Amino acid sequence: MSSSSLAATLLLVVAAISCHCHVARGRGGLGVNYGTVADDLPSAARSVELLRAAGAGSVKIYDANADILRALAGTGMPVSVMDGAPVWCVLAGGGGKAVNETAVAAAVEYACRQGSGTCAAIQAGGECNQPDSLDAHASYAFNAYWQQFRKAGGTCYFDGLAEKTTKDPSHGTCRFISSLD
Ligand SMILES: *[C@@H]1O[C@H](CO)[C@@H](O)[C@H](O)[C@H]1NC(C)=O
Repeated sequence: MSSSSLAATLLLVVAAISCHCHVARGRGGLGVNYGTVADDLPSAARSVELLRAAGAGSVKIYDANADILRALAGTGMPVSVMDGAPVWCVLAGGGGKAVNETAVAAAVEYACRQGSGTCAAIQAGGECNQPDSLDAHASYAFNAYWQQFRKAGGTCYFDGLAEKTTKDPSHGTCRFISSLD
């Protein structure tokens, strides 16, 4: 494989891994920035296979989690961990995609049952009760669930009803905690 087609291949790989995607070829070889704000991410183990296949000389991680750190351990690749941008988990389809209200309501009910006081802010009188809509409450509930449980393996997925965003969904006095809080 020529070095330019290798670079093109890697660029595609990195685009699949991350939206923080930058590939730089410096004196130290190929450096890859790794983040996890995207859909359909390859598993941590698969990501490491792809990085190795591409000959990555070093990896900069923007969303450190136990899986990727474990997968990188022992590869000999120098790894640096950055303070990433804050991330939130919200109802998917901000672009106007129709959502299944029955499924969303069930997912909200599930999220709110986890932990304690997870959905207190969206109850009547809570600071996130307004707007009193299923969509707004779903975003709050998905985020409150994910921020509380992501370090223990909780995902921002809910059967595809949830998605991560780097845009702060907080509004007025209603504050959504972020991945950096
Ligand atoms: C909506 O979700 C419910 C519960 O998950 C499911 O039973 C139903 O088939 C879904 N409806 C549509 C139109 O997808």
